[in-house]
Amino acid sequence: MPAIVVIGAQWGDEGKGKATDILGSQVQWVVRYQGGNNAGHTVVLPDGQDYALHLIPSGILTPGTKNVIGNGVVVDPGVLLDELSALEARGVDTSGLLISADAHLIMPYHVAMDKVTERFLGKAKIGTTGRGIGPAYQDKVARVGVRVADILDEKILHQKVEAALAYKNQVLVKVYNRRALDVDEVVDTVLAYGRKFAHRIADTRLLLNKALEAGESILLEGSQGTLLDVDHGTYPFVTSSNPTAGGAAVGSGIGPTKITRVIGILKAYTTRVGSGPFPTELLDAMGEHLRKTGGEVGVTTGRPRRCGWFDAVIGRYAVRVNGITDFFLTKLDVLSGLETVPVCVGYEVDGRRIDDMPMTQTDVHHAVPVYEELPGWFEDISACRTFDDLPANARAYVHRIEELTGAPVSAIGVGPGRDETITRDV
Ligand code: GDP
Ligand code: IMO
Ligand code: MG
Repeated sequence: MPAIVVIGAQWGDEGKGKATDILGSQVQWVVRYQGGNNAGHTVVLPDGQDYALHLIPSGILTPGTKNVIGNGVVVDPGVLLDELSALEARGVDTSGLLISADAHLIMPYHVAMDKVTERFLGKAKIGTTGRGIGPAYQDKVARVGVRVADILDEKILHQKVEAALAYKNQVLVKVYNRRALDVDEVVDTVLAYGRKFAHRIADTRLLLNKALEAGESILLEGSQGTLLDVDHGTYPFVTSSNPTAGGAAVGSGIGPTKITRVIGILKAYTTRVGSGPFPTELLDAMGEHLRKTGGEVGVTTGRPRRCGWFDAVIGRYAVRVNGITDFFLTKLDVLSGLETVPVCVGYEVDGRRIDDMPMTQTDVHHAVPVYEELPGWFEDISACRTFDDLPANARAYVHRIEELTGAPVSAIGVGPGRDETITRDV
């Protein structure tokens, strides 16, 4: 198992934190490869303590595992230090966390820009997490970003911030009517933070590749999900990075040939936070039922998640664009107690039947789900530990998802806890 990738198959919040935590003990390294503190990954330990991780890999909760914030991540230095202190205050050993010298920093002006641009968009807003993610990636691609290594050279840092603010302050003041930021103040703040994590900065791509050469294994933990991918998602209602499996190679510096398994984390129904199309969304009491039973509230922003039925078009799409080898199907327990469980098997778009993700976003917006009704089950399944323990209709639901998506389900979540999991040989 040289390198395996864990990715969200839908719009995020599928249970990547739990899956990473479970796999953490089987690998030497856990790496975050994209996104930043827009993520909220929940891990519930066997003693019942739960952790919400935003920037730090979920592997930090597995003693002895080395954790890396890869080059593809955008790092808010203040958030990094707060998250580290909060973990340390709870007795978690964070000494093994390393940060890529090439990861980009989320600067105070990125957070300011994220908020004002969303306000400016009005009804067309994306519903971002407001953490400065989009603006930080914009600067990376525009080649005016500040990288983690820059905090090791005050002169360079000053030059870069000065150049960035010469333009950004004009926009903040003249377009958005906000206060200009002071170059020295920004540099001093970032340097003060940087001094506290300078010892963690490393050439992580070299370390990871050497680890692979030495026969160690690496888990690449994605954040967000396939449909929030800037290339493959429901653009423009996406995040600004590549959560899909290809992004794992780019965001860590590991070659794609080293990746032998791609685990898609797939919720037994669908949720989404923020704006954008969502064909199977339920705006009625059933949506409310899923939200309540599934505890569907955003870990990062506290926003209620939009809820809907399982969408096999999305599942199939995720298998293709990520090369998913197997699924971890989460939250099957949430569906207990329903007479029938509808599953979307295709779309109708302006009178045409479509089985795959439509080519244009206009068609995605017009997609009306075609449902197949599967018989439900009433048993509480949270104590089931083998596939055969599940009620026949729950097993049939899993089999149908496998048929419709084209990938096997190797694990099933029946509760938030580490042990509330069924594993299967596939
Ligand atoms: P992530 O962003 O993909 O890591 O997912 P989140 O942590 O944002 O959301 C998943 C939520 O579902 C968390 O509250 C988890 O504790 C919880 N969870 C994960 N797997 C299961 C499961 O199989 N059953 C139930 N009931 N909850 C789960
Ligand atoms: P995890 O890793 C769900 C959504 C936001 C918004 C869009 C863009 O916990 O699955 P951004 O701040 O990234 O520019 O916002 O992406 N979003 C998420 N939705 N789970 C997440 O992370 C998300 N991270 C970003 O709600 O719609
Ligand atoms: Mg989440």
